[in-house]
Amino acid sequence: MNILAPSLLAVDYNNIEANIRLLEESNVSWLHLDVMDGYFVPNISFGEPVIRCIRKITKLYFDVHLMVINPIRYIDDYVKAGADSITVHYEACEDLSATIAAIKAHNIKVGVSIKPDTPVSLLKPYMNDIDLILVMSVEPGFGGQAFMPSALDKLSKLKQMVAQAGRPIDLEVDGGITIQNVKQVIEAGANVIVSGSSVFKGNVVENVERFSNILTEN
Ligand code: DX5
Ligand code: ZN
Repeated sequence: MNILAPSLLAVDYNNIEANIRLLEESNVSWLHLDVMDGYFVPNISFGEPVIRCIRKITKLYFDVHLMVINPIRYIDDYVKAGADSITVHYEACEDLSATIAAIKAHNIKVGVSIKPDTPVSLLKPYMNDIDLILVMSVEPGFGGQAFMPSALDKLSKLKQMVAQAGRPIDLEVDGGITIQNVKQVIEAGANVIVSGSSVFKGNVVENVERFSNILTEN
């Protein structure tokens, strides 16, 4: 089943609750939460206090994407804030195995993300330990960037690696996903689709409906 994970980064921050209600009414089940430290990526977004607040107003599945150096320092905080899954960056971890173990110790889902220049083969040693792989299809740090087609080949390769692993691992794609290119990323192998601007710019309900139609058809 394909899943739409709207990225809150692109929301109108004056109307977070109203927008979350629109997502819920549109049968969205996941919310993608981009945490940026201004160091691993050249931008600062929001962190644990904001996620904790939003947790109080919704039961949506919180898909937390940590774009943070040495994220192992913050795992407990984001679990307490209400994360249902935590995805860390391959490039940001001093000890990825220990970071994965720290997340799994809380009985939540664990994901690993790779930036556009990071080869998929580096994830091979972790295929038995992770629930999700997040392929960045832009350089992480900002919403509204153009999709990098090099992500398609990475998704296809990962789809094969997941099949070889013989266990369920979600393949998530993040960055520049639009109504126009979403079919392509699904065909390449993605089953969790992050979208910020293409969901929150304009009419949220209509945007979600357009995505959902394509996600259920493919
Ligand atoms: C970028 C973030 C994305 C971003 C996607 O570093 O990880 O989740 O919000 O935004 P769009 O869909 O606008 O590219
Ligand atoms: Zn993200």
